[in-house]
Amino acid sequence: MCGIVGVTGDQPALPVLLEGLGRLEYRGYDSAGVALQSGGALWVRKRAGKLSELVASVGDAPAGATAGIGHTRWATHGRPNDANAHPHTDCGGELALLHNGIVENYLSLRARLEGAHELRSETDTELLAHLMEERLADGATLADAARSILREVEGSLAIAVVHASDPELIVAARRVSPLVAGVADGAAFLASDIPALLPYTRDFKIIDDDQIVELRPGTLRVTDLDGAEIEPPARRVDWNLEEAEKGGFPDFMLKEIHDQPVAVEETLRGRTTADGRIVLDELRLSEDELRDVDKVFVVACGTSYHAGMVAKYAIEHWTRLPCEIDIASEFRYRDPVLDTRTLVVGVSQSGETADTIAACRHAKRLGAKVVAVSNVVDSSMAREADAVLYTHAGPEIGVAATKTHLAQIVALTELGLYLGQIRGTQLPSHTKRLLEELAEVPDRIRSLLTDSAKEVERVASQYWQTRDFFFIGRGVGYPVALEGALKLKEISYARAEAYPAGELKHGAIALIEPGVVVVGVATRSRVHAKTLSNIEEVRARGATVILVATEGDEDAASLADHVFWVPETAELFSPAVDVVPLQLFAYFVAKRRGHDVDQPRNLAKTVTVE
Ligand code: G6P
Repeated sequence: MCGIVGVTGDQPALPVLLEGLGRLEYRGYDSAGVALQSGGALWVRKRAGKLSELVASVGDAPAGATAGIGHTRWATHGRPNDANAHPHTDCGGELALLHNGIVENYLSLRARLEGAHELRSETDTELLAHLMEERLADGATLADAARSILREVEGSLAIAVVHASDPELIVAARRVSPLVAGVADGAAFLASDIPALLPYTRDFKIIDDDQIVELRPGTLRVTDLDGAEIEPPARRVDWNLEEAEKGGFPDFMLKEIHDQPVAVEETLRGRTTADGRIVLDELRLSEDELRDVDKVFVVACGTSYHAGMVAKYAIEHWTRLPCEIDIASEFRYRDPVLDTRTLVVGVSQSGETADTIAACRHAKRLGAKVVAVSNVVDSSMAREADAVLYTHAGPEIGVAATKTHLAQIVALTELGLYLGQIRGTQLPSHTKRLLEELAEVPDRIRSLLTDSAKEVERVASQYWQTRDFFFIGRGVGYPVALEGALKLKEISYARAEAYPAGELKHGAIALIEPGVVVVGVATRSRVHAKTLSNIEEVRARGATVILVATEGDEDAASLADHVFWVPETAELFSPAVDVVPLQLFAYFVAKRRGHDVDQPRNLAKTVTVE
């Protein structure tokens, strides 16, 4: 999730690049860089940190450069530092390339290129620069070399390249990661996202998968993998800048809810093989070390804790290892039993939550192995842990976590399946089938966002003034209920309690009366019938019942005043689908109440105090 800008024309390029990057900082902001064409040579500058660091360092840039490319980064491979910032150059410094996406065959490419080239960074992107260098040495044009990247490289990518030998040309190519281009006033522009280019044009060409675009002043040429010219679809945009940054959505939170299918896809990318095995090469713990583990603890706060609860069910089921889940702020103070055979998994989107860091440090002191699951490369937790598993949700701006939560569920699921695979507690054919199911999850979320959002909004508009909500669920439906209640509390400030559905009758049922809304997570599972019995109990006491239910489940529908339908999903993956209507419900209630959903009162995105 990085930002890309490119321009070639007859005016200075640098101000266009820096302004465009400023508009894309919401996509990534751990480092930035530019490459400018300057009299037959390239001038490249890259800086770790916010864009302001780069801006402060370009005083000596060639003033007359009229073509160049720029990048703002959200790290996936390699720490955020100057060397890993984009653009990356070939060995001779004649070609500069930047990239948004993840190269899946990174390890094999690196092994192949390492001896023959001088590698200066830890990134997957630099490998693409050297691959192109080889194609150019074989006599390919820049566009053909970009075409061969699309052929040879697996994964998601949008790349932009300049070469010193052709000062007016920018070549870009795309698969999965977004790319738009436009022409105005004798210049041609390129960007990963529309906001970067709004000051220059409102007419865009949308570059599609496996297409290559060549930009020269005032012209664009788009070709396919075979070199045939194509006319890409045009799009006129009348959004203002703020709307554009939010992808046309009114808030970052709603945009990020809609980003979720991609967040899940990116987190899965490159971690499964065609024959149905899971590969977590980045984990840095050997298979022997993981085989030696006899107990797992998951520690986390807030929404991350709910992802951890899902992991507990999955890890115990697939590995038969005992797995405990702890609120990070409680963990250290209850004297947990840890030793060198314990695996502690710290889950934190920011990787900076003080309580979770402290819990991981405590575990390390007692000799446990610590794995961090984080959305921020090189965050404090990632640096301190023995191993790290990144979620690839991209930067999340809304304070109340959504897409990072789904990415955490998926990453933890991968970890559970991996442990099962290397410990031999899962049949390979079973793991293969589960991975096939997991790969379906993004499309299930997509269809749910299209089919159910309107109904959720309609129901929210009916109950937005309700004072008391209860969320109930069993099994993995319980963490979904917890997360649904937390989202509602965080952004709508409604009172919302979550209970394991079977526990309600031991106390909280005393609070159920007409006017109370009970939201039940009642999708098909091994505890489905029992959940429905608990729903009967609250109905009998006059509560209004809203159910999250599996499409076509008429038994559930017969007990509910309203149903949020979701596609059927394998039980241990279902939280990643079932939670989505509850995120939307919280969102629409909060909007009705007139709240700022992106920056709710009293909350912070990163909590660095204990
Ligand atoms: C804050 C945020 C929550 C988040 C929690 C844990 O309270 O507002 O959205 O779930 O911190 O954050 P972490 O970065 O550790 O996942």
